[in-house]
Amino acid sequence: MEEYHPGLDGVIATETEVSYLDLEAESIVIRGYDLIELAERVSYLDVGYLLWHRELPTPQQHRQLATELIEAQSVPEAIVQIFRHLGPAVHLMDALRTGISALAASDPDVARAENVDRDRQLLSLWAKMPTLVAQSYRIKANLPLLAERVDLDYAANFLWQITGREPTALASEIFDKLLTLYSEHEMPNSTFCARVIASTLADPYAAMTGAVASLKGPLHGGANEEVMHMLEKVGRPEAMAAYLKARLQAKDRIMGFGHRVYMHRPDPRAVMMKTLLARLVEEKGGSDLLAMCQIGEDVMRQEKGLFANLDYYAAPVYHLLGIPTELFTPIFFAARTAGLCAHIREQYANNRLYRPRVRYLGPRGLRMESGSGSI
Ligand SMILES: CC(C)(COP(=O)(O)OP(=O)(O)OC[C@H]1O[C@@H](n2cnc3c(N)ncnc32)[C@H](O)[C@@H]1OP(=O)(O)O)[C@@H](O)C(=O)NCCC(=O)NCCS
Repeated sequence: MEEYHPGLDGVIATETEVSYLDLEAESIVIRGYDLIELAERVSYLDVGYLLWHRELPTPQQHRQLATELIEAQSVPEAIVQIFRHLGPAVHLMDALRTGISALAASDPDVARAENVDRDRQLLSLWAKMPTLVAQSYRIKANLPLLAERVDLDYAANFLWQITGREPTALASEIFDKLLTLYSEHEMPNSTFCARVIASTLADPYAAMTGAVASLKGPLHGGANEEVMHMLEKVGRPEAMAAYLKARLQAKDRIMGFGHRVYMHRPDPRAVMMKTLLARLVEEKGGSDLLAMCQIGEDVMRQEKGLFANLDYYAAPVYHLLGIPTELFTPIFFAARTAGLCAHIREQYANNRLYRPRVRYLGPRGLRMESGSGSI
C-alpha cells in the first residue's frame, strides 16, 4: 500500500481546470489555450483575465481589468515604512515576502472567519505586486518612488515604475510577453505551497507569502538571477564552453538547465524567450550574450542531454531591458501572481486539506530508563 515518490515526483496532487503541461502535445495548456500562442497573440492582462474568468476578455473587459488593477495598485504607507526599515542589504525576495505578509495587517477582513470576499483580497494582491516589487527596489537603491503612469499599458507602467524610464515599444512588448510566459505553469513548488496553505482556509496573504518564499530558491525562481551572474562571470562567448565543462566536471549544477517535468525535452517557453532575446539584441545590441547562451545550450545538450529552461533565456532578456539582476525573481513572482490567484480561488472553491503521510525510518518503541530526563 505504501507508495513513496521522493519530491512527489509524478504524483497527481489535485484536480485542476487552470493549466496542464501536456507533454505529448508539447503544449502548456492554460484554460484550454496554448500558452505560447497566447504569448504571441494577446497581452499579459488578457491571460490574467483568462486565468481568472476562464475566457479571454473583450476589449472593454480588458480595459475594465486594467482600471481595477490601477485603482488597487497603491500600498499603505506602513509598507513603504517597513521597506525603509529593511535597509540596503535586504534581498528583494525577502522584501517582497515581508511586504506581502504585512499587507494582511491593513485588511480588516483578515480576522473574519466567514463571509470574507477572497476575490477582493486576491485582486488587491495581484494589483499591488508590481508596486511592491518596484518600491522595495527603489527604496533599497535610495531612488525616489514613482507614481503609476495611467497613460501607459500594464507592462510599460511596470517597467516605468522600476526604471523611471519610458520603455520603447519593443521593450514594452517583450516585457509583456515575458510576464505572460511566467504567468502560469501548472504545479511548481510555489503553486503547490500556495494551495497547501489555502487548503487550511488560511487567507490569501498567507498563501501568497508561502508561495513567494518557495519561489526564492535557486532550484525554482531564483535560477534566473544565478544565470545572469554566470553570464557576467564568463563574459565572452569564447570562454563559455570551457567554463561549463569545468563546472560539469566538478559535478556542479548549472542554473537555467533541466526541469522536473521537461528534463530531457525543450521547455516551449525557453524556445520563445530565445526568439525574444534575438529581437531585443537587434534593437539594443548584446550579440555576445546571445552567442554565449547558444554555446551554453549546445554544451549542455551534448554533455548532459539537458535543455535550457525559461529562466536561462529570461535572464539576458531582463538584462537587456535594463532591469537590475536582483529584480529578476521578484518580477517572475509578480507575473506568476495571475496564475496563483486562479489556483488559490480553485482551492477555496473545492477544498480538501492537504495532509500526506510519511514512510517512517526512525526508531520505535524506545523506553526511558528510570532516572533519565530532568523531570
Ligand atoms: C530544476 C531541477 C531541480 C529539476 O531537477 P530534478 O527533477 O530534481 O532532477 P535531479 O536533481 O534528480 O537531476 C537528475 C540528474 O540530472 C542532473 N541535472 C539536473 N539539472 C542539472 C543542471 N541544471 N545542471 C547539471 N546537472 C543537472 C543531476 O545532476 C542528476 O544527474 P545524476 O543522475 O547524474 O545525479 C534541476 O534540473 C536543476 O537543479 N536545475 C537548475 C536550476 C534551475 O534552472 N531551476 C529552474 C527550473 S525552471
